[in-house]
Amino acid sequence: MRLLVCGGAGFIGSTFARQRLLEHGDQVTVLDKLTYAGREENLADLAGEAGFGFIRGAIEDPEAVVGALTAARAEAIVNFAAETHVDRSIAEPDAFVKTHALGTYVLLEAAREHELPYLQVSTDEVYGSIEEGTFTEESPLRPSSPYSATKTGADLLVQSYFHTYGLPVLICRGSNNYGPYQYPEKLIPLMVLNALHGDRLPVYGDGMQVRNWIHATDFARAIGHVLEHGVPGEVYNAGGPDEEANIAVVRRIIELAGASESQIEHVTDRPGHDRRYSLSSAKVRALGWEPRVRFEEGLAETVAWYRDNAWWWEPIRSGEYRDYYARQYGRALGG
Ligand code: NAD
Ligand code: TYD
Repeated sequence: MRLLVCGGAGFIGSTFARQRLLEHGDQVTVLDKLTYAGREENLADLAGEAGFGFIRGAIEDPEAVVGALTAARAEAIVNFAAETHVDRSIAEPDAFVKTHALGTYVLLEAAREHELPYLQVSTDEVYGSIEEGTFTEESPLRPSSPYSATKTGADLLVQSYFHTYGLPVLICRGSNNYGPYQYPEKLIPLMVLNALHGDRLPVYGDGMQVRNWIHATDFARAIGHVLEHGVPGEVYNAGGPDEEANIAVVRRIIELAGASESQIEHVTDRPGHDRRYSLSSAKVRALGWEPRVRFEEGLAETVAWYRDNAWWWEPIRSGEYRDYYARQYGRALGG
């Protein structure tokens, strides 16, 4: 397949691009705006591969999108492009509205014009928080943050293009991802890097919020599987095999990184913080997908990857991330 992968310079998009190119023999063209989270380094190992292309551009820019579709001679569009951090959506929601609403609309129009299948990458956060049990694709959409609300809006727009225009769309909703190349604003890489540096480990509230962890290679395979085997118009959840409270995740990281429990600091909770996410993956499992990486093993490998790949995170920790960290945590990185 010839794929246009939007947002392919990010954490999961680059994992997907690598998988499709190297394991499935697809041709992959990445269209990415290169926001703070989009990094060409994430694709460095693919740059010389035949069948790989990179175009810098925004999904909300119709000319950039049509140019990329033409250059890619795309047979399908897969959209990862998004603003992805809940805390940033609370502080500054503007870019979330623009990328998720306008960007998704521009991509859908291009898909319609060029009669291309379209897959939207989405999140379990559209269902909101669940104290007990697990969400299915039929669960009501009750997003709580500007991040999840705008992602929900995008999902609804995608579905409307199926119902109204018959565009063959698919939506794949993942639970919390982890693994190499994740920007360190997110829980796991933030805690790993802080643990390795002897910095404080800022746990929001009581740390008893639960997340359903999926390795990014498993989520990327689910997306590829849905693209190949999914029924147009349908939504597929892909949840990880393990759930864990944040404080337990932090304790595992401390042990793996050889850090100290005294580094843990309970800080003011995130406003509107969702208590628990949990996804049923029965529908995508019925299509033949299942996760391969258990959390214990994936987390150990992830900690080792960050320890061994300072070339990747050093420019981040000395760049924009420093300012973000100081704003978000009220203290300098390293403090
Ligand atoms: P990320 O923040 O690492 O990467 C996002 C990428 O999108 C970056 O490369 C960025 O430059 C690009 N981008 C942002 N705005 C753009 C625009 N307007 N035009 C073009 N490119 C733009 O994110 P991620 O964690 O890889 O998430 C990818 C997708 O998966 C998102 O849609 C997210 O909602 C979804 N998702 C993420 C998780 C998770 O735990 N990280 C879980 C479930 C679903
Ligand atoms: P995050 O990685 O931001 O993902 P999401 O909010 O999309 O689930 O956060 C995961 C969990 O970790 C969430 O419950 C918030 C919590 N958290 C902290 O306790 N401290 C932190 O510094 C961060 C970034 C997150």
